[in-house]
Amino acid sequence: MPVRDIINEAARNFAMAGIASPRLDAEILLAFCLDCERLDFLKNPSLPVAENALASFQKLAERRLKGEPVAYITGRKEFWSFVLDVNNSVLIPRPDTEVLVEEALILCKKPDTVEIKILDIGTGSGAIALALASEIPLARLTATDISAAALATARKNADTLKLNSQIIFLQGDLFEPVDDFFDIIVSNPPYIGEDEYEKLPVGVKNYEPPEALQAGADGLDFYRKIVAEAPGHLNNNGWLLLEIGSTQDAPVIDIFNASGQYSDISVRKDYAGLPRVIKARRKING
Ligand SMILES: C[S@@+](CC[C@H](N)C(=O)[O-])C[C@H]1O[C@@H](n2cnc3c(N)ncnc32)[C@H](O)[C@@H]1O
Repeated sequence: MPVRDIINEAARNFAMAGIASPRLDAEILLAFCLDCERLDFLKNPSLPVAENALASFQKLAERRLKGEPVAYITGRKEFWSFVLDVNNSVLIPRPDTEVLVEEALILCKKPDTVEIKILDIGTGSGAIALALASEIPLARLTATDISAAALATARKNADTLKLNSQIIFLQGDLFEPVDDFFDIIVSNPPYIGEDEYEKLPVGVKNYEPPEALQAGADGLDFYRKIVAEAPGHLNNNGWLLLEIGSTQDAPVIDIFNASGQYSDISVRKDYAGLPRVIKARRKING
């Protein structure tokens, strides 16, 4: 069977199942089965696909039809300038999170000779910590997660990307395993409230780890805790940067203001024009 027919049929089935990017998903899964790049067969759509490869593709297509995200099927996801290993112990890194990385990099524009200490709370696959380490050779990162399985994945990604010498991984609840001070603290914490969680798409709710998503009744539990505890680990004038859900800017700004410990509170929008990152500077202890 030629590539063209396989892709067309799978894309049609995926579209009927309500999958948002049916053709792209079919192409990625076929490329994964054939161990090649999508472009390799898109240039030559009449290329025949061997029966064993077709059988493997059909198994993967069935998983996709049931709602499993492509990244968990292939075990990999592009983020920043690299490809990360992912599995169902980690959130699939989202492009929106690259905005948090960009904001942190703006704050790191110091001379190349200055070491900068950064803490990533809830590192998951390691996405944010690895992106920052890859861009700032003198950055020293600490990356934490409550999930041992997530940390194992993050460590593996750091090894693959040869960034392990820059990052210490610690398991524990938020700041509990951390006894250091940092210039920058970043986090993309869980931020889904109870009602919203019930309405999540199947691919998220049934496959992504609940502990990476759920954040109490109103989705703000982690913001309250991190905003309260971060000053105890930030150097004077250090920055806290938090990814937020697109409707959470006002309540999270309220949390920052109410703590009285921060100045220069601002919101950065993502490329869809939605509020995505809040950053604030720790006030100098007087
Ligand atoms: C939304 S995910 C973000 C993952 C990754 N940083 C990213 O941006 O793709 C939140 C992460 O926080 C972790 N987490 C949840 N509760 C935690 C806690 N109490 N302390 C530390 N990490 C926690 C989860 O295991 C998950 O990896």
